[in-house]
Amino acid sequence: MDNHETNDSQMTVRAATPADLPAIASIQDLSPEAAQWEPSSYLDNDCQVATGGSRIIGFLVTRQIGPAEHEILNLAVDPAERRTGIARALLRDALSRAKGEWFLEVRASNTAAIQLYESAGFHRTGRRPDYYYEPVEDGIVMRFFS
Ligand SMILES: CC(C)(COP(=O)(O)OP(=O)(O)OC[C@H]1O[C@@H](n2cnc3c(N)ncnc32)[C@H](O)[C@@H]1OP(=O)(O)O)[C@@H](O)C(=O)NCCC(=O)NCCS
Repeated sequence: MDNHETNDSQMTVRAATPADLPAIASIQDLSPEAAQWEPSSYLDNDCQVATGGSRIIGFLVTRQIGPAEHEILNLAVDPAERRTGIARALLRDALSRAKGEWFLEVRASNTAAIQLYESAGFHRTGRRPDYYYEPVEDGIVMRFFS
């Protein structure tokens, strides 16, 4: 990806379109900690992208799993744009649009994501032994109620 500056005030969050899939795939390729699913499948769920100018700089995929229950399926931010509040903005947008219970699983070693989710109000509610593979690792289950 090219280097550039992102002005926070120009960041927007909007629904993803098929034209965004190559950029989503690029960010996912650069984010081994993220789930590595086929990006086109994200459009079957609620997929939001963060944009800076005309560039896609992050994405969040969620889905509804019950009447007032949602889960986070994937989240990644362009490595060149991290620690500027993009993931927090994507999360805030999703959590404000769908009230109720939210769940997610995250690798036990992914301290960046765990701290992000805790800063957004999620709490740890469980641990799934050997939930992940390549490498095998426990999953931390986190919950938020909005
Ligand atoms: C986790 C990830 C999405 C965070 O994105 P981001 O846009 O950099 O996060 P933000 O700038 O919104 O950070 C918000 C808060 O999260 C926490 N956080 C984010 N990155 C962190 C890091 N590397 N170390 C510690 N805390 C971190 C901090 O509390 C941060 O607030 P602060 O910057 O005021 O201290 C990003 O690092 C990423 O894409 N990682 C690879 C994919 C991944 O792990 N996805 C999660 C799968 S469950």
